[in-house]
Parts: sequence; structure tokens; C-alpha cells
Amino acid sequence: MEKIMKDFFLFLSKNRSLTRAAKKYGLKFGAARFVAGETIDQAVSVIKELNAKGLAVTIDYLGEFVDNEAEANEMADQSIEAIKAIGREKLDSQLSLKMTSMGLDISEQTVLGNMRRILDAAKENNVFVTIDMEDYARCEKTLQIFKKLRSEYDNVGTVIQAYLYRTEQDMIDLSDYEPNLRLVKGAYKESPEVAFPDKKDVDENFKKIIEMHLRNGHYTAVASHDENIIAHTKTFAEQNGIPKSQFEFQMLYGIMPERQIELGKEGYTMRVYVPYGTDWYGYFMRRLAERPANVAFILKGMLKK
Ligand code: FDA
Repeated sequence: MEKIMKDFFLFLSKNRSLTRAAKKYGLKFGAARFVAGETIDQAVSVIKELNAKGLAVTIDYLGEFVDNEAEANEMADQSIEAIKAIGREKLDSQLSLKMTSMGLDISEQTVLGNMRRILDAAKENNVFVTIDMEDYARCEKTLQIFKKLRSEYDNVGTVIQAYLYRTEQDMIDLSDYEPNLRLVKGAYKESPEVAFPDKKDVDENFKKIIEMHLRNGHYTAVASHDENIIAHTKTFAEQNGIPKSQFEFQMLYGIMPERQIELGKEGYTMRVYVPYGTDWYGYFMRRLAERPANVAFILKGMLKK
């Protein structure tokens, strides 16, 4: 049943009509639990609260699968606004963004043009930028864009998904770039031809790539709410003399907030991914797919109204 629900929400996450409708009607159905608001001002207030609790942040202006140049340029402008807000308000925050919001599906020229504008602004404001990883169909193109940008900038990193078979080879190929990588399980619906269908195999591969990246001496963000993965990372780092300055933990806004504070108090850098904006629908559906129990929470909220 859980698998059917998961597939159902991942299917819904890509529905363009529902995405458009959701943009018009504002944060609904409990999405505010996972999304920090629709405006940069609302996101800034949330970030200030998180920073005051000892948590670092990566902010994300929500958007994906953009299919026209004007919208992609506008998305880049919004990310630059976010970078300026980080500088102006002296926030402890990085920036995250998706290549399909910058024009990946339009042309390489569009996406590179937008990314160079963003990375220049980020450099001026001392902000690190992480390129999120999207579905398998965009993985190769995203890595090519990352490699190009990494040759020009030192303030850019990307994400690697443990559920893909190709991941171990990607880590080897990326090593020459000394990348700062966020490692995750993977959040999209992929076929068994390209991704491990069993959670057990994903978890094993996740541990393997965390060890690989830490052993290589590169900065590693372990982005997971899974206690086994967190414990494994801590033990591996302790046993191999890897300092806390070489890695961090990351979690999503609204998920296990007390645990986030605890890990921060234990002396680890704990970074919270804070999304905001009107394009919340696809992000929200993926959060429901990760934990269908969240649906009960939403239904309760709807019945109260
Ligand atoms: P897992 O799914 O096994 O969950 C472990 C436990 O965490 C669950 O039992 C539950 O208690 C809790 N939990 C997990 N998800 C929850 C939810 N939605 N609601 C409530 N509780 C939940 N993916 C991707 O493909 N590309 C990307 O760029 C990113 N970026 C990214 C950034 C950050 C900071 C994080 C934390 C995650 C991502 N992801 C991602 C998402 C990632 O791939 C994955 O889908 C989720 O993190 C869930 O996997 P976990 O490792 O948490 O383990």
C-alpha cells in the first residue's frame, strides 16, 4: 500500500496543470509545514529563527521544469534577490536551486548564462550555491553543467543520489573537481533499470558513497533524516580521524526539527534546507511520497477547516 501511495504522489508531483493551479491559490493542504512562505521576507524571518537556534541554512526559491526563457531568467533574478538578502541581513545561509528552473530544458546557453549571473552575485556576497539533482533524465546534463561551472567557480557544489546505479562511477569521475557534494537517497520516481528498487540497497550504496567522499578528503553534506545513516557517518568519521569541519548534516525544513537542534548542539554543522515561493506543489508532493503518513496529517488539517 505504501509503495502505491508513494508512486501516486510522485506521479502527481509532475502534473503541470496542478502545478499551475497551486501557484494561483497559495500555500494549501498543510504545505506550510514544509515551505517557509511565498515571499523572500517570510523566508528571511524563518532563517533568522533557525540561525538563532544554531542552525545553518540553504535557501531555495522553489521552481522546476521551466519551459520558456523569460521565466527561467525571472527565476534566476529571484535567486539573486535571495543572495542579496543573505548578504544584507547577514544570514548564515547558502543557496540551492534546480537546473530545470534555470532553463536546462531550453538550452545550455540559457542555463549557463543564468548560473554565471547567480554565481557572480553569490561570490560577491560570499554565498555557496548547490545545484540540486532532479530526475534521472536530467542527471547527465546537470553533471555536465556542474563540471563546466566548477572549472570557473569555487563556490558551487551539486548533489549525488544514492539510488542510482551510475552514482559510484559519477563520484569517481567527479573526484578531479574536488567537489563539495550533498549526498542524498534520491526523491524521484525512477525505473529499476537505472535505480535500486530496494530501500536496503539504496541505504547500502548511501553508506558506501559517504565513506568514499569522506575518505577522498572532500567536503561532504550528508542530507538525510535516517538515524542509521547519521550514526554510520558519525562512527566512520570518528574511526577514520575525519574532522567535523570536513562534513555536515542537512535536513529539510519542517522535518525532525528537534533532532536538527540536537545535532547542532553535538557540535556538527547542521544545515536546514528552506524552500519558499509559489511553486511549492512538486516539492510538497515529493515530501508526501517520502512519508505517506504525512497525508493523515494533511487530512486532519483539512477537516479542521
Ligand atoms: P528515509 O526516507 O529513509 O527517511 C528516514 C526517516 O526520516 C523516516 O522514517 C521519517 O521518520 C523521516 N522522514 C523522511 N522524509 C520525511 C518526510 N517527507 N516527512 C516526514 N518525515 C520524513 N533528493 C533529490 O533527489 N535531489 C536533491 O537535490 C535533494 N536535495 C535534498 C536536500 C536535503 C537537505 C535533504 C534532507 C534531502 C534532499 N533530497 C533530495 C531528498 C532525499 O533524496 C530523500 O528523498 C529524503 O531526504 C528522504 O530520505 P531520508 O534520507 O531522509 O531517509
